This record gives sequence, structure tokens and C-alpha cells, in this order.
Amino acid sequence: MEMTIAPSSTRPLAPVFDLAPLSAALGAEVVGLDLSRPPSEAIVTALRSALDRFGVLLFRGQHLDPDQHIAFSRALGPLQEVAQKQYQLANNPFIYVIGNVQEGGRQVGDPSVGRLWHSDQSFLPSPAYGSVLFGVQCPPEGAATLFANMYAAYEALPADVRERIGDLHAVHSFREYYELLRHRDPTQPELTDARRNAFPDVVHPLARRNPRTGRLALFINPGYAIGIKELPGAEGEELLAFLCAHACKPEFVYAHQWRNGDVLIWDNLAVNHKGTEFDTARYVRRMHRTTIASTPDAYAATLIH
Ligand SMILES: [Fe+2]
Repeated sequence: MEMTIAPSSTRPLAPVFDLAPLSAALGAEVVGLDLSRPPSEAIVTALRSALDRFGVLLFRGQHLDPDQHIAFSRALGPLQEVAQKQYQLANNPFIYVIGNVQEGGRQVGDPSVGRLWHSDQSFLPSPAYGSVLFGVQCPPEGAATLFANMYAAYEALPADVRERIGDLHAVHSFREYYELLRHRDPTQPELTDARRNAFPDVVHPLARRNPRTGRLALFINPGYAIGIKELPGAEGEELLAFLCAHACKPEFVYAHQWRNGDVLIWDNLAVNHKGTEFDTARYVRRMHRTTIASTPDAYAATLIH
């Protein structure tokens, strides 16, 4: 099924792009856009609206140099600098290199990021709006990215659970996430005091609202959330585990198998995501990510109370 999206107007306009849903769970392929050319305001508006509806957008066959990647991402909002400085593209604080790629014997990509379900930068006081991930070099097997529809996950919760979580907040922690990462991958450098202080733990409500559609999403992820602010340790951990297990049930999930030239954009309020393993002895993987920041006002607009 394809549908044509055009900017709203009383005059008929040429179609901007076509949308083809990717799965029953979420996502759509955007057909007919070359992201190396700066998008018009009408296209940006139509893309935001498509993102509100589908959570994840796929663009195939793209060719983006770092400047073009940044220019397209900036059209959607201000960019967040890379938090893992050792994996930013050389002299470029806005492009995060992900994968096992090496240059001159040096690891230039983050080799082990995102293996737990997470929402990008939920450890920030105003978590990222969107992420734009470009598949520069993609293994032909493995390395799929999984996405879970957090609107559908919220809506499928029993009514009493939705009622209960409406007043609760999760604690999200970069520090705990990083320690877990180091435990799994001892080659990662120790967290410096400066970086620990730059990312103190934050709290976010378990349910947030898309301010444009009014739809509620479950906002919790096992990558960064370490407990429930209002509940004692074990009780909070139990609820956290229940919600995280619920949110990644197969009916909410789309698995994206990457091809070179794929670009995926996702809304970090609408979806959780996780990376999967691949044969690192056989294949090189290189992905470039930009991150579209949020602002305190935009974040406040997602709060229910
Ligand atoms: Fe991620």
C-alpha cells in the first residue's frame, strides 16, 4: 500500500513523496526524496507529520556526505553534539560513527552501542527528538536494528496499569549505562569525572504525550532507566522489568535489515530501538548518526500533567 503525501493547501500541489508502510507494527518507507538536497519547508512539515504517524521513516539508496547529512538533519531541528566524543567523526561534533570500522589501526566507530532497548539520549533532561542514521557500510547479514512502537505498547497496557503509571517517573542514568557497557566491553575507557558530572541522573514520566497528535507513549527503556523514583528499589525494578518486557513484545516490533545507502529517521518518543549482533570477524559496519535535539519547552509540551 502506498499513499501520497502533499502539503496541505487549498490548491492542488504536486506530490511531495510517497509513503509505503514497513510493517504492521510501525514504520514507513519514504519514496521519492533525495536527502542530499535541502528539503523545502513543506517537505519538512510533511516528514514531521509522517514521523508522528509512523514513528520510523526509511529512505533507500541515499548518498550523503557529512555536510549533506547535517544539513538535512538540521532542517528537522537543532542538532545535539555527540556524547561519546571518542567516536565523533574527525573534527565533526555532530556525526556519531557507529560500528566496528577502523582507520589506521584505530577504532573510529562505537563498536558496542545500543545492544539494549533504549531511546536515544533519554539520560538528558530534554531527551532527543529524533535520530537520523545513515548506513554507509552495512553487513549483508545480521546487524538488524529493532524498533518497538511505544504508542501501541502504552495503549495495550491494562487500564489499571495505565492509571498507575500516570503519576510515576523513571530515573534515567548515563553513568549506570556506561558502567554496564564497560562491564560488557572492557576496552571502553573509564568515565571521567567531567563526563560523569556532565550527565547527572534525570527523571522522566513513564507516559508522555506527542504534543502534535495528543497520542500517549510509554517512555521507559532498559538501556538507561534504573528505577522508579516514587517506588522502593525492588518494587520499582519489578515494574520497570514488567514494562520493558511488555514494550518489546513481537507485535510492537519492526526489524530493519540494513542495505548500504539506507537512512532511517525515528522519533525517540514514539519508539524504542536496539542494535543486534553480526559477524565482526567477517564484516565491517559503518553507520553515521546525527541526533536532533529537544528543548526544555518542547519537552514540557510532552508532559501530561
Ligand atoms: Fe540508539
